[in-house]
Amino acid sequence: MTKSPLTSQDLRTPVLRRSFRKPYPAAVRGEGVYVWDADGNRYLDFSGSAAVNFIGHGVREISDAMVEQARQLEFVHTSQFTTPAAEEFAQELLDFAGDNFRGGAVYFTCGGSESVETALKLARQYQMEIGQTKRHRVLSRNQSYHGATLGALAVSGNRKRREIYLPMVREFEHIGMPYCYRCAFDCTDSCYNCGQQYAAELEQAIEAAKGEAAGFIFEPMSGATLGAVTPPPGYLQAVAEICRRHGVLLIADEVMTGMGRTGRNFAVEHWLGVPNAAPDILITAKGLSSGYAPLGAVMASKKVVDAVAGGAAGGQECPPYTGSGAFLHGFTYNAHPISVAAGRAVLRRIQSSNLVHAADSDAEGTAGSALKKALESLRDLDAVGDVRGLGMLWGVEFVADKKTKAPFPPEKNFSGLVGQACRQRGLLVYPMQGSVDGVAGDHLLIAPPAVIASEQIDWATEQLRAAINESL
Ligand SMILES: Cc1ncc(COP(=O)(O)O)c(C=O)c1O
Repeated sequence: MTKSPLTSQDLRTPVLRRSFRKPYPAAVRGEGVYVWDADGNRYLDFSGSAAVNFIGHGVREISDAMVEQARQLEFVHTSQFTTPAAEEFAQELLDFAGDNFRGGAVYFTCGGSESVETALKLARQYQMEIGQTKRHRVLSRNQSYHGATLGALAVSGNRKRREIYLPMVREFEHIGMPYCYRCAFDCTDSCYNCGQQYAAELEQAIEAAKGEAAGFIFEPMSGATLGAVTPPPGYLQAVAEICRRHGVLLIADEVMTGMGRTGRNFAVEHWLGVPNAAPDILITAKGLSSGYAPLGAVMASKKVVDAVAGGAAGGQECPPYTGSGAFLHGFTYNAHPISVAAGRAVLRRIQSSNLVHAADSDAEGTAGSALKKALESLRDLDAVGDVRGLGMLWGVEFVADKKTKAPFPPEKNFSGLVGQACRQRGLLVYPMQGSVDGVAGDHLLIAPPAVIASEQIDWATEQLRAAINESL
């Protein structure tokens, strides 16, 4: 590949980039599953950037909807106005989330971290509104990722991303996370038993919090930190039941897994379809706008909204709470009209192109099933220890020794090397480290747009195979 003079030589530019150690090509155009840089090099986006793009790049109807909105009205502040686009999109999203969110409400933000912050505060305020004033702790899991802001970092369990900021954050309890490839319990029952033991840790943590637990936040499928790890059977149901029993709100972080990515509208539907086990608060971002605009959403169930709204706005069915009538939270750009217009157009595209079905890896003839089959074929490589995932969200974990599952030394940065080799071949993947203990352990996240064709999947997998071999 040729190199852009701007990006290959200048490690230091006016942009404070993610890293000063590596060059970044300048991206200038996107279409379908491809992105082009300023030198005309083409890359197949096999990770949807960072599990963001679900509908493909360069879809004209999305930019048209954004332009239309910007021409009509670019912005108003939510303390003064609502907008038709926000009202309509909120209802469309609640409908997309299904029966469990009927009568609920949506808070729009500019992304995942803002949404997590919003959900943490909403959980606290909910508990205050119902008279549980001591409850303020939000429990979470080790090896989770909920965002970069300090509140979101506090509930995250990603060691590397948290370490230096720990003196600045208020810490609550973190419990263990089932990770069946490296199961600590030596299960012989597809990890049903270990799932129950991990769920029991939640109950112990709630009890140890002595009436101060307000909520429990979790990723239905572990996203970035562990790499598309699915929960063992029975685990999330047990977690949901424990939260219900203890009056702790269940907060599903579907920033990465929501909006069809796993082959369901939301990933919780794989495990928590029934009303009593549904999350009280559901957070989504990334695929919500497919990256066309900064957008996140916090969906609050009727129970939560009623408690805040009280008698002020149709919460009368929910005595004895009176409800303060106002959510004590706000961002200047929440429900930004242009972002909301992008989100609405993206949802229409997801539905008109039947992309949730396309993402379903268990349905025949779909992009999801082709992706599953192609990635599974990498298992024969010595360096590939595990291939796991669902829908259009997959993790490929690397090992130095397949038998012992020993990881590569972290300083080798094996996943980074594979990522670089892929890039040289015109393929974008999402390399991560730390799956074993927060530092050691290498994996890739694979999360292409659901519009990817099976020949593109095959080509990408061939390149990935070669890149893994080259990196050894
Ligand atoms: C599960 C999860 N929650 C929250 C976030 C933070 O989202 P953002 O980077 O949009 O702030 C991410 C980002 O990767 C995520 O995967």
